[in-house]
Amino acid sequence: MKALYLLCLFCFGVSTRKFVDPVAKTSPEHKNGVFYLKNGLQRSYNTFLFDVPLDHFSYINDITFKIRYMVNLDSYKAGGPIFFYTGNEGTITGFIENTGLMWDIAPMFNAALVFAEHRYYGASLPPNAYKNVSTTGFLTSEQALADFAELIYFLKTPTGHQDNSPSFTATTKVIAFGGSYGGMLSAWFRKKYPDVVIGAWASSAPLTNFNGGGVDWGFFDAITTRTYQESGCNIKNIRAGWDAILRLSQTADGQQYLNQAFNIDPKSLIKDINGGYNLYYYVRTALEYMAMTDYPYPSNFLQPMPGWPVKEACKFFSTNTTFSDRTLAGMLFSASQIYYNYKNDPSYKPCIDSAICDDDSLGNLGSGQGWDWQECTEIVIEMCARGNTSFYYDECSPPPLSAMLDYCQSAFTKQRDGTDFGWKKGMLRENGVRNLYGLTLSAASNIILTQGHLDPWSGGGYQKTDPYANPFNGIYIFEIQGSAHHLDLRQPNTCDPNTIMNARYQLVGVLQCWLRNGCKNAFLADLPPLVDNSKGNCTDVINGYPWGQA
Ligand SMILES: *[C@@H]1O[C@H](CO)[C@@H](O)[C@H](O)[C@H]1NC(C)=O
Ligand SMILES: *[C@@H]1O[C@H](CO)[C@@H](O)[C@H](O)[C@H]1NC(C)=O
Ligand SMILES: *[C@@H]1O[C@H](CO)[C@@H](O)[C@H](O)[C@H]1NC(C)=O
Ligand SMILES: *[C@@H]1O[C@H](CO)[C@@H](O)[C@H](O)[C@H]1NC(C)=O
Repeated sequence: MKALYLLCLFCFGVSTRKFVDPVAKTSPEHKNGVFYLKNGLQRSYNTFLFDVPLDHFSYINDITFKIRYMVNLDSYKAGGPIFFYTGNEGTITGFIENTGLMWDIAPMFNAALVFAEHRYYGASLPPNAYKNVSTTGFLTSEQALADFAELIYFLKTPTGHQDNSPSFTATTKVIAFGGSYGGMLSAWFRKKYPDVVIGAWASSAPLTNFNGGGVDWGFFDAITTRTYQESGCNIKNIRAGWDAILRLSQTADGQQYLNQAFNIDPKSLIKDINGGYNLYYYVRTALEYMAMTDYPYPSNFLQPMPGWPVKEACKFFSTNTTFSDRTLAGMLFSASQIYYNYKNDPSYKPCIDSAICDDDSLGNLGSGQGWDWQECTEIVIEMCARGNTSFYYDECSPPPLSAMLDYCQSAFTKQRDGTDFGWKKGMLRENGVRNLYGLTLSAASNIILTQGHLDPWSGGGYQKTDPYANPFNGIYIFEIQGSAHHLDLRQPNTCDPNTIMNARYQLVGVLQCWLRNGCKNAFLADLPPLVDNSKGNCTDVINGYPWGQA
């Protein structure tokens, strides 16, 4: 998941912050479709291409292009289901590697694995993608879902497989899986194409985080703050640290101190309060990514990170309360280095001005801008930190939509080569998601929705108290203590908390129920109280079902 994050604090130009899903950000291509788990276990897949219409929904041209999908049949036996990953906003390979649970339970189900890449990402690009609005306007979730539906119909047709792609019988059952935006897609897939997928496991999918969904704009930053507080941080020092950074950035002395002490890249030296804000966003981005990826074991997205990175970060925020500005700024900076430079590479020079440092902010559009495009058109996520529920400054007035419109205007109108991309304000449809899929689960069935309590996105997902969440509808909602962004779909690990192991165990039972003819309703028990298992070395658990649960 990634979100545009747009601010105009005291309006020194519009500042923008962007989240890129840590998985989408690191999408390795694998030679011959082979990759390895930490313990050396090899996994592999075959890659195929599939023709889809550029436009599924109107009748003005017959242009087609190819999307990519990957298949693994190691565990497949005739009669088994297809586990189908609905690809998110990035190259599909990252999601293949970071959705280990699908691989791990495939043998129990004799399941085939299919990972489909989302149009306009990775290698699934139509002609002239990202050239202008006329060539980019087909980048929408509903077009992507129609691609996925056509692909599944094709896989279940015996003819037309000259490329040696596998074919399955017409009665093969399909279950959709997805995390983050991919989770939104898998839930919408089940809502919109119930005859194509018998159910969906949608992990960390902020499906209610849209206009009319009843979610406060401030939820993301409120939960980030809660995660730091519950992990033992003295959040008073975090809040005071922002003031310290901004004060220091306004004196020559302070600027020199910050630039030297933090080894700031000469390209982005702090020269005034704008530089102070750059440092603020640089640190803030790290805090938010660490909350999203607050996994119990070491991970490696942008850079290596230790297990429980938020707890590690909290070690820098002393319980004492009165410190100099330099000390407070240093606490925040040190915390951010757990995300940016945990290995302590002395040659690392933080480039803190995203307008200079981010390749994708230079005006030449490419698939790195795909999610921005989606957020500037259909997937309109309005959010802002509230001063009274987060450790940030209040940024909710003016409302977030106005800053978003400004950002989209600057991102999708004039390009570096001088041509006009052609975006217009009316293309941002605040109610796009509501109009396409509805915001409630009133007529939905067979959807698993998991939220990680530590994950800032969790507040944008359906909650346990949702009126439609019950086994008679086949709607299963877990808020999982000790879990961050889509931990449940990752490869099981010896350091996973008991809550995750229990949730996976029960949800595998729901899958069994969906796949077994005549099984009515699976009932879920409450998850057990959290036990932290992150002692000693953390290693992958392969084929460990039932993970000690009964
Ligand atoms: C968009 O780009 C395509 C491909 O280069 C071009 O044919 C078309 O005329 C452009 N449309 C607009 C409105 O600029
Ligand atoms: C915190 O305050 C206590 C008591 O004043 C002092 O002994 C301790 O050194 C302080 N810790 C830090 C990290 O400054
Ligand atoms: C925070 O401020 C908002 C906007 O002023 C208000 O609606 C909300 O009730 C406040 N929340 C808390 C927890 O004080
Ligand atoms: C953890 O791994 C290290 C390095 O492989 C090893 O030396 C150590 O004994 C292991 N510790 C435990 C508790 O297994």
